[in-house]
Amino acid sequence: MAPVDPHSFTDSTHPPTTHISLTLYLDFQTSTIHASSLFTLQNPYAGPFSLDTRSLQIHSIIDPQSPNNTPIPFDLSQTPDPIKGSKLTLNLSNHTSFLIKYTTSPSSSALQWLLPPQTFNKKHSFVYTQCQAIHARSIFPCQDTPAVRICYSARLNIPAELTAVMAARHVVRRSPLDDDESFGFSTKGRVVEEFVMELPIPPYLFAFAVGEIDNREVGPRTRVYAEAVNQVLDSAAKEFEGTEDMIREGERLFGGYEWGRFDLLVLPPSFPYGGMENPRMVFLTPTVIKGDATGAQVVAHELAHSWTGNLITNKNNEHFWLNEGFTTYAERRIVEAVQGEKRAALNIGIGWRGLNEDVERFKDNMELTKLKNNQEGVDPDDAYSQVPYEKGFQFLLRIERQVGRPAFDEFLKKYIATFKFKSIDTETFLDFLKTNIPGIENQIDLVLWTEGTGIPSDAFEPESSVYQMIVSLANESVNGRMPREDEVAEWQGQEWELYLDNLPKSIEVSQILALDSRYKLSESKDYEVKVSFLQLAISCGCKAYHSEVEKTLKEVGRMKYLRPLYTALVKGSGSEDDKVFAKRLFSEARECYHPIAQGVVEAILAKYM
Ligand code: BES
Ligand code: ZN
Repeated sequence: MAPVDPHSFTDSTHPPTTHISLTLYLDFQTSTIHASSLFTLQNPYAGPFSLDTRSLQIHSIIDPQSPNNTPIPFDLSQTPDPIKGSKLTLNLSNHTSFLIKYTTSPSSSALQWLLPPQTFNKKHSFVYTQCQAIHARSIFPCQDTPAVRICYSARLNIPAELTAVMAARHVVRRSPLDDDESFGFSTKGRVVEEFVMELPIPPYLFAFAVGEIDNREVGPRTRVYAEAVNQVLDSAAKEFEGTEDMIREGERLFGGYEWGRFDLLVLPPSFPYGGMENPRMVFLTPTVIKGDATGAQVVAHELAHSWTGNLITNKNNEHFWLNEGFTTYAERRIVEAVQGEKRAALNIGIGWRGLNEDVERFKDNMELTKLKNNQEGVDPDDAYSQVPYEKGFQFLLRIERQVGRPAFDEFLKKYIATFKFKSIDTETFLDFLKTNIPGIENQIDLVLWTEGTGIPSDAFEPESSVYQMIVSLANESVNGRMPREDEVAEWQGQEWELYLDNLPKSIEVSQILALDSRYKLSESKDYEVKVSFLQLAISCGCKAYHSEVEKTLKEVGRMKYLRPLYTALVKGSGSEDDKVFAKRLFSEARECYHPIAQGVVEAILAKYM
């Protein structure tokens, strides 16, 4: 076997899948999908052929080209690998295509099935996917590595009162036809929604959502979609009205936008990320809609992935910085252009703080502080940190400062044009860099930056005046000084976040209480502020906020909030009560989290209990 990816059973000597045609019957009663999927390989293959699956029940595999649907022998490994799942091996004899019939499991790690009470309207069920990094295999068997790019078509058979959306081009919503596969179910009260993705994407960009969904137009190529609730749709439309300006800025910096539409889908609060760059339709947490700069920042980030990540893709998760570091750099260029240098500088400051915290957090596992790192036996969901984002950003900023902006901009455009629709690794990037900026390796220690641990000494600590002012205000808290009203009058959520994250961990409980009684941080509608505050309070052993913590952990499922709060409870304070509290909370809230978030919280509890 010749692996290409530590997280996949894909064999590099096997032909890549080029197209998958998916027929999916969504069964909300059992939270499963009955499926029949047709795979096309780049060229015929004979011998054992490997695919990734996770908790799929495989019913049959046939040769669709044979006159009487000859079965293809297969084997599904009986003991799943804890990270990779179950290897499916087909015994091919010069096939270029095969049809697999299978059913997903209610615990499919990519899918969250919401019951009506878990939605805004409380009337209908809702289901959505999150496939990055390695969860696509729990929806369909595939070579689930970003090294392989596929085009696909999909037919989703769903209840007629619901609407399906996909990160793909919508073709038609129609009644089921007689020759549609219906898996033995009645077609009454059902509709079929058809989609196609004509551009080759890595499997982790496969995405759909089904629910009572409506939309509002916000730009010439952008609509926002969300649950059909006027209040949600209107506030989302307002929040994202500046999207077209950002797309134009992205095009100016990185070249034409190749994906056609750029729609936004606002998910229920259990969505585990801030945003996910699904092509043609970015998925977003509703927590970014709060009328300040953050909604646009997250959109800028996911939009930037349209070039860095979706056009040029990391070959596997060991080179994840190529996706997120470039995107963080691109995001800040877009933010700088549309929201100004000050806002971009503040974001750099928050990022710098996060990078330093994560490097400290990984002090016993320095491997994960490298840009390019070894992830053999490491679950990508557990490896997630600010390092690929912020160290990657710092590396690119270092190059930009060395060569100057105009030259770096030209380099970036050429890089994207050269590698678009390719999946590449760190070496490919470095070779291209050295070829196009001759002598760069004598000016910057490229090996230290990409293979070394920690933060290189030639990284730039942010110089912004707002950043410096906030950090020094936070430092002054050791003398018991709290910021004055006039000093914080202009602060938005991000300024508070930076302030709170910079407060010394030795701060007195009395100071925390005083700060909160003055500025009402624990009740902030902005989760960034609220969570930073609650995290600090728990870590300092302050018990006054348990009910606020409980409320927060039960109403949102975004991992950016779950991680610090659960970690603070089980690790931060060292108190037994807090651990018991965390355990109870998780047992009560678990069902409301996406399976990926459930796994991440489980890992945190297991590590410290
Ligand atoms: N692609 C990521 C989200 C992701 C990473 C999902 C790894 C699964 C595995 C997305 O682009 C992202 O970085 N989201 C950030 C947004 C932020 C940096 C503006 C998030 O969710 O916090
Ligand atoms: Zn990203």
